[in-house]
Amino acid sequence: MTDRARTFYLTTPIYYVNDRPHLGHAYTTILADTMARYRRLAGDDVWFLTGTDEHGDKIAQAAAKAGITPQQLADRNSAAFRDAWRQLGIEYSDYIRTTEARHTTVVQAILQKLWDAGEIYLGKYGGHYCFGCERFYTEKEIVDGKCPDHQTPLTWIEEENYFFKMSKYQAWLIETVERQPDLIRPERYRNEILGFLREPLQDLSISRPKSRLTWGIPLPFDDTYVTYVWFDALINYVSALGGPGAPRFERYWPHAQHVIAKDIVKPHAIYWPCMLKAAGIDLYRHLNVHGYWTLGGRKISKSVGNLVEALALKDKYGNDAFRYFVLREMVFGLDADFSEEALVSRLNADLANDLGNLVARVTTLIANVGGGSVPATEGRFARGGEAAFGGDLKGDFEKSRGNVDAAMEEFAFHRALAAIWDFIGAVNRYVDTTQPWARPSNDMARGQRDHALYHLGQSLWCLGLVLEPFLPEAARKIRHALGHTGDPKLGDAEWGRLAPGTRVQKLSGLFPRIEAKDQSDLTYGATRTSRRPPAGQSGPAVLATIDDFSKVDLRVAEVLTAEPVPKSKKLLKLTVSLGSEQRTLVAGIAEHYAPADLVGKKVVVVANLEPAQLMGIESNGMVLAGSTEGKLAVLTLDRDLPPGTKIT
Ligand code: MSP
Repeated sequence: MTDRARTFYLTTPIYYVNDRPHLGHAYTTILADTMARYRRLAGDDVWFLTGTDEHGDKIAQAAAKAGITPQQLADRNSAAFRDAWRQLGIEYSDYIRTTEARHTTVVQAILQKLWDAGEIYLGKYGGHYCFGCERFYTEKEIVDGKCPDHQTPLTWIEEENYFFKMSKYQAWLIETVERQPDLIRPERYRNEILGFLREPLQDLSISRPKSRLTWGIPLPFDDTYVTYVWFDALINYVSALGGPGAPRFERYWPHAQHVIAKDIVKPHAIYWPCMLKAAGIDLYRHLNVHGYWTLGGRKISKSVGNLVEALALKDKYGNDAFRYFVLREMVFGLDADFSEEALVSRLNADLANDLGNLVARVTTLIANVGGGSVPATEGRFARGGEAAFGGDLKGDFEKSRGNVDAAMEEFAFHRALAAIWDFIGAVNRYVDTTQPWARPSNDMARGQRDHALYHLGQSLWCLGLVLEPFLPEAARKIRHALGHTGDPKLGDAEWGRLAPGTRVQKLSGLFPRIEAKDQSDLTYGATRTSRRPPAGQSGPAVLATIDDFSKVDLRVAEVLTAEPVPKSKKLLKLTVSLGSEQRTLVAGIAEHYAPADLVGKKVVVVANLEPAQLMGIESNGMVLAGSTEGKLAVLTLDRDLPPGTKIT
């Protein structure tokens, strides 16, 4: 564990209520939730804030269009965001709405303080305004006469307004950003802001005349004006804690970190620090900036009309799987193009194959071979360190933990997951090398097998903890399979914490493989072509009746052990469970499957086949498999069913 601060305050942007939650909002909120969970798991005192931004032109216009009041629109859509976060399992500590009295009170108090201190003055302003962004654009920022973000025409607006003396903080801000290299991160956004600060900083218009807009917080010193929505919104980070002087504020504000996407760096890296400075409040610790999710290269947004529905993806693939994909796929700070095909292939490779199979293999091995509980390991196999037999899983885990910590320190979620998957890879290789399914021929071999199972058990135990922030449901299932039902703590992710003798339950089907059969299975960005039978392969030659089929007794079978048949290249000897009985089968699949790949798998067997002798072994049944062009695949289940289940 690093010696970082033990108190942690994390915020997401507060989302505009003219929109429904989509992948972009979900990403920011999921990553903040992951970070908050990670820090809680590490024992830190965490406050995690999200909420909705409910004032301003944008909301007033959307409400008018919908024929309802701005408050009705805000109530409806704020509830929609809240509901989306509930469905996505987001564990925030507080949810702020800018229409709440606790917020408006603090905004007005800060405005009054700045007014009294002479930080605000009445002036005239004319400028190019974007209603989408709720802000004026300078000549330099305008692209082809349009808003660079929305690509919509700007409106020239001239009016008398109140201004915050932001320009006087320019030198201070440059000095602050330069002095704290990790204030704005990753570095590309810090450089962007330093670049922007090379031009003279303008004062900030912080009011809108009520003649133009009434939907906002009235200025405390002139009620013919409402507060500019950004000046109002940024203060949520402080008002939600009760404002300066409140106990929660004093406890958490010194540890504040914001998470945003690159669209709103300027208000957060320029307006907000100057506002805080003028109000006599300390600056936040870090501004963490991520890139855009794009679809076909364009930012996912309501105005572009290319929304990717986060909840639909979650419903289709499961919460953990969706969460894993967004955290693993996007390099924090850079843009990522969304593709459902990429999602499916990551789920199959990383979750179904690497993690899901590992958990099934290890729990099945301990349940079947190890007698249902974690065996003890004898000292003689640890001679020369834990690496004595099979490899040094403990060392691999410690290395991975260190890398996860370092990555999380920098909000590099993709690197944290890659570090955990390095460890999962090492554990999978350990199963292959130690082959704990083989029947031990002597005491030494039995001792080695128990040693391997002990270390595999410790590995799952640690995974059940470190995976919690990223895959909360799967991690909980892993912990439960190992009898851990209490609160998870990162400090318990240590070798030896899973006591020998602990009962282990089999856990298979943690992440079922997803077979996208054709384009119609993929909602977004499908490019895969549907599969046809290979050329030259014709349909069935003989038609079977339903009676013919019902003669064949097909059953779900769980592979308990697998070993090569001596002197045969093709054959594997399998012991399978059919629920009430165990069978020995011989299958001609050795050229396509390593024994380790089969243990723990649920396959389909013909259970009423005449026994056959193969290389001196009696085979009682047949494993179903298909093959074409040198490829062979054994039939497995895409959902868990108990061994012995009849297939009809
Ligand atoms: N209300 C302001 C923020 C005020 S914070 C004091 C706002 N709201 S928003 O609804 O437009 O949300 C913007 C944020 O949503 C982005 O900064 C980002 O966190 C998230 N995203 C919305 N679309 C996104 C993508 N296409 N990609 C990644 N994140 C995006 O701005």
